[in-house]
Amino acid sequence: MSIMFACQSPIAAAVLQLLLAAVVSAQHINVTVDDVSVSLKDSGSSTGERYTLGKLKRLAITCRASSSGVLSPSSFFWRLENSNSSATVDARITVDTKLADNGLSGTSVLNINYPVKSDITNFVCIVNQTASATGRFLSAPLLTMKVDGANEYDVAMWPGESVAILCLVEGNPMGDIRWTKSVDPAFNLTNNNTLYLSSVSYEADRGYITCASKNRYGENTARLFLRVKSPLSFLTPLVAIGCEIVAILVIVVVYELYDKRRRQVVDGDDPKSE
Ligand SMILES: *[C@@H]1O[C@H](CO)[C@@H](O)[C@H](O)[C@H]1NC(C)=O
Ligand SMILES: *[C@@H]1O[C@H](CO)[C@@H](O)[C@H](O)[C@H]1NC(C)=O
Ligand SMILES: *[C@@H]1O[C@H](CO)[C@@H](O)[C@H](O)[C@H]1NC(C)=O
Ligand SMILES: *[C@@H]1O[C@H](CO)[C@@H](O)[C@H](O)[C@H]1NC(C)=O
Ligand SMILES: *[C@@H]1O[C@H](CO)[C@@H](O)[C@H](O)[C@H]1NC(C)=O
Repeated sequence: MSIMFACQSPIAAAVLQLLLAAVVSAQHINVTVDDVSVSLKDSGSSTGERYTLGKLKRLAITCRASSSGVLSPSSFFWRLENSNSSATVDARITVDTKLADNGLSGTSVLNINYPVKSDITNFVCIVNQTASATGRFLSAPLLTMKVDGANEYDVAMWPGESVAILCLVEGNPMGDIRWTKSVDPAFNLTNNNTLYLSSVSYEADRGYITCASKNRYGENTARLFLRVKSPLSFLTPLVAIGCEIVAILVIVVVYELYDKRRRQVVDGDDPKSE
């Protein structure tokens, strides 16, 4: 009885109609974005990163919308999944939108010019502010090793010094992180993007440090050579100089002996010449 009454009330009916209209318009826009799989380049290098993004000119992902009501050309909006601002805030990103003549469907292409590792992520396409779909650039993990904020693949150190090595994992979806050391096979650190080595030594630390990451699109590794100097390395030049002095002395002594003997022969002092 009270429900009947509510439905007959003009205000309630208007509210219901508005709600219904909102639901209907939201439901009638169909948005899809196909994922884009990005293949990586084998760098062929034994140090540094095994696979890299290479120098790509452009990456593109397409959003398609269809609707029972017209779409407006400005109704496509792209953003990064973890940000509310427009993707085109980044000057390298452009959006190319085309509507069908009847206005009932359209496509919007997001272009990334000269993409970098951090672009391999998720973008959201929003149509008429109501309907949305997420598009993914997918790849094996992309790695970067950093020491003191700079990309480093060969680090020279004195024994006793400390170092923090960052392994930045990008690519999509995010992979795990595993560290290994060539001189210490039992070494095991996982899921920490920073490897901190304090008071390094020639015996325990000089060698390759590897960071590996895997997701369902593949595995990638990055290697750095930790060039811990030998504690005796400053002796090497001294030893070399010492050897040279000994060699010169030997030559001088041998020459003197030979010369003396030769003079004896010339002077007729040689016992055999008698
Ligand atoms: C949405 O559009 C896609 C193709 O663009 C189609 O495959 C799918 O069936 C549509 N979904 C609905 C609910 O209309
Ligand atoms: C999309 O937005 C345009 C302009 O704002 C509007 O005219 C149209 O009705 C909307 N379409 C749908 C299906 O909501
Ligand atoms: C995006 O906007 C929503 C609601 O407006 C807010 O809750 C959220 O914190 C914002 N996210 C970012 C990353 O700014
Ligand atoms: C390394 O440690 C992790 C957990 O801390 C463990 O799951 C894994 O099996 C270990 N790997 C090796 C080679 O010991
Ligand atoms: C990662 O390693 C750093 C340096 O050794 C340490 O301070 C930090 O607590 C570790 N984090 C995790 C999550 O284990």
